[in-house]
Amino acid sequence: MRIGILGTGNVARALGEGWAAAGHEVVLGSRAPAERGDAGPDVRSLAGAAAHGEVLVNATPGTESEAVLASLAGEVPAGTVLVDVGIGFTLDGALAHPGVSLGERLQAAHPALRVVKTLCTVTASVMRDPGGLSGPSTVFLSGDDAGAKAVVGGLLHDLGWPETALLDLGGIGTARGQEHFALLFLGVAGALGSHAFNVRVVPEADTATVAAARTARRSHRYAEAVAFYRDVVRLPVVHLAEDGPDGHGVAVFGLPGTPATFELLPEDRPLPGGRPHEQLVLYFPGRAARDAVVGRLADAGHEPVGQNRYWTLNDAVTFRDPDGAELVLAPWVFGAEPPPARRRRAGVVTPATGRGR
Ligand SMILES: NC(=O)c1ccc[n+]([C@@H]2O[C@H](COP(=O)([O-])OP(=O)(O)OC[C@H]3O[C@@H](n4cnc5c(N)ncnc54)[C@H](OP(=O)(O)O)[C@@H]3O)[C@@H](O)[C@H]2O)c1
Repeated sequence: MRIGILGTGNVARALGEGWAAAGHEVVLGSRAPAERGDAGPDVRSLAGAAAHGEVLVNATPGTESEAVLASLAGEVPAGTVLVDVGIGFTLDGALAHPGVSLGERLQAAHPALRVVKTLCTVTASVMRDPGGLSGPSTVFLSGDDAGAKAVVGGLLHDLGWPETALLDLGGIGTARGQEHFALLFLGVAGALGSHAFNVRVVPEADTATVAAARTARRSHRYAEAVAFYRDVVRLPVVHLAEDGPDGHGVAVFGLPGTPATFELLPEDRPLPGGRPHEQLVLYFPGRAARDAVVGRLADAGHEPVGQNRYWTLNDAVTFRDPDGAELVLAPWVFGAEPPPARRRRAGVVTPATGRGR
C-alpha cells in the first residue's frame, strides 16, 4: 500500500519504519525535504507525500495540522484515508482543542477525506512496536467510515497490534476522548518516569472465570505415549504416578507458556476406530522453537502425517502420537497474532520468526 506521512519527527519516523518493514511504500513529507535525508529513504515535500498516498497520515504538530491540511487540499484525492495521530498542545501544555478534537475538525474541514483517529494514546516507540510492552494493551479507532477503519486496522496489524488490541470507539466524535487522554497520559508518564507504556481495556467478564485447565485422555499405549510426550516432545512432567485415583498410572504434563495441563491415563484396549480426529495443538513463538521439536520427533523415527488444509496454509506440521492422536505443531501464537495465512492475504510476508516482521 502507498502511505504518505506528513511530518518527519518521532511519530513519522517510527510509523514509516514500521510500515516500510511490513512491505508498504512509504513517503515522508517535510517542509524542508533536502534537510531531512536522515528521516527515511524517501522524503519529499508535504505536497509530494500527500499525492503519494492511498493512505495519508497526519504526524505534524496538532496546533499546525489544520493549516497543513488546508494548504494541501488540492493535492489529496477524494476518498483518501487520513490517519490522524496528532494532538494539539498549547505552549503552556494545555489541550489546544478543548471540548472538541483535531480529528473532528479535520473531518469537518475535509468531508471528502475519510479521517480515522488512532495511535495518539501511545508514544511513538509503542505505536511501532506494541510487542515491546510487558503485556497486551489497547489501541483505539475513531472514524465515520467503516471501510477506512478496516484499512487502518490492517495497518495496525502490520505494526504488530493484534486484532484483540483494537477497540473501535465509533464515529469521529469519539476522537475527543482519545485526544483528551493525553492529559492522563502525561500524568501516568510522570508517575512511571517513562512514556513507553499503554493501557488495556478489561471488559466485564461474560464468560466463566477459569484460572487453569487440564484436558485428560486414555492411552492404550500408555508407556510409549508417556515417553513420547516426556522425552521427545519434552513437555514438562507435572505429575507421574504408578497408582492414580483408580489404582492405575497417571501422567500429567505441563503445557509451557499456559496454565493448562495435559493428562494421560492408561486403558486396556484401543478405541474402536482409533483417534483420527483428536488433536493436541502446540503453538510456538516462531519456527525455531517449533523446529526443535520437529527435529527430535524426526530423530526418534516419527514422520509428519497428512493434515487439515487449515494447518498446511498456516505453516503447521502434524505428527501422530503412539495412540494415533494428532499432535499439531504451529509456529505462531493463536490469539496473540493473526495466523500466517491471514498475514499473507494482507500482503505481508511472514518471515521465520512467525511474527510477520
Ligand atoms: N511523539 C509521540 O510519541 C506522540 C504520541 C502521540 C501523539 N503524537 C502527536 O503526533 C504528532 C507528531 O508528533 P512528533 O512527536 O512526531 O512531533 P515532532 O517530532 O515535533 O515532529 C513533527 C514534524 O512535523 C513537521 N512540522 C513541524 N512544524 C510544522 C508546521 N508548522 N507545518 C508543517 N509541518 C510541521 C516537522 O517536520 P519537517 O520539519 O520535516 O517539516 C516535524 O518533524 C503531534 O501532533 C503529536 O502531538 C505524538
